[in-house]
Amino acid sequence: MERLRVGLLFGGRSVEHEVSIASATSVLGALDRDRYDITLIAIAPDGSWHLGSPTRPLEAAMTGEEISLPANPGSHTLVSLAGRDLEAATELDVIFSVIHGRGGEDGSLQGLLELAGIPYVGAGVLGSAIQMDKEVAKRLLAAAGLPITPGTCVRANRLGDGAAVVDALIEELGTSVFVKPANQGSSVGISKVESREDLLPALRDAARYDTKILVERAIDAREIEVALLGNDPIEASIPGEIRTRHAFYDYDAKYVDDATELLIPAPIDDSLANEIRRLAVEAAVALESAGLARVDFLLERDTDQIFINEVNSIPGFTQGSMYPLLWQASGIPYPALLDRLIELALERHRIHTALETRYEPTR
Ligand SMILES: Nc1ncnc2c1ncn2[C@@H]1O[C@H](COP(=O)(O)OP(=O)(O)O)[C@@H](O)[C@H]1O
Ligand SMILES: [Mg+2]
Repeated sequence: MERLRVGLLFGGRSVEHEVSIASATSVLGALDRDRYDITLIAIAPDGSWHLGSPTRPLEAAMTGEEISLPANPGSHTLVSLAGRDLEAATELDVIFSVIHGRGGEDGSLQGLLELAGIPYVGAGVLGSAIQMDKEVAKRLLAAAGLPITPGTCVRANRLGDGAAVVDALIEELGTSVFVKPANQGSSVGISKVESREDLLPALRDAARYDTKILVERAIDAREIEVALLGNDPIEASIPGEIRTRHAFYDYDAKYVDDATELLIPAPIDDSLANEIRRLAVEAAVALESAGLARVDFLLERDTDQIFINEVNSIPGFTQGSMYPLLWQASGIPYPALLDRLIELALERHRIHTALETRYEPTR
């Protein structure tokens, strides 16, 4: 059997650059070499693309041969910016990107891959963009009748009149709120606010990352996550729970603190688990998900009320990350999960390329 040529894309310009390298290290370690030829493509923090080498650590790829992928239709071949000949391995059948956050998860990379006509793992341009923007995502979830955390959006250019903004927010949501940039990940720029005087500094901090800021009522909640797999239909894993000793699931709790616990399956009763799984699939459909997603919930402690917190189109992908662990516990081991995601990318591309692009009168 011909081996499929997979471009593994990692790094990126977002604050999640290092996280992406960790995800790529796991994916590279588990992709079946009998089935795939792997080309490593690193995006450096400045946005430049570099060819990696299988014999060097992934970080080192950031200084490798500078390359690009032309956006011309049918362009499946990486080219050297210095005009050098690159080996045959630079021809690609499918792209597996584990670039999180801005520039990787927000539809812009997906746009390039669409133009180039290369199949790629995960959501398309629209799904990626709306899942990245927590504010737009919440509007669509609400329109689909799905439960979201009560909150409101503040534009950064209104912060000049800070006192008025703070008054209005406290009037609407109370003093216990979460403040977050609309387009960000890994809890960067997010604050838990418990008092009036902390609100404006939190808004200003979030405004460093985005011009659009979400302020939400702080829910005293357990955090439950569900992994999704599929184009149509979409399958849901069993739910897992995250327990952290931090005030919330912040950057350190995610990547630094060993004491953060992932409980799989989440210790909740079956009917609640099934309801959460059902909502996860509905959320993915509402947000134009494809291939994979991780849907994160807040389960209010006192009431068991369920809120959808967010949907991630490129969730953390290390072998120790929630997304692969949930599938493993649901019967799909990590290497088989990678195979399935690549198949789904090819399936989606086949279906899309079969659609008419010109007006054909029907008889
Ligand atoms: N409204 C909220 N109520 C309670 N906790 C929240 C709320 N919003 C966010 N959090 C906490 O902050 C964390 C990060 O927020 P999230 O919206 O998931 O952003 P990110 O995309 O950075 O993961 C969540 O995992 C949760 O611990
Ligand atoms: Mg989150």
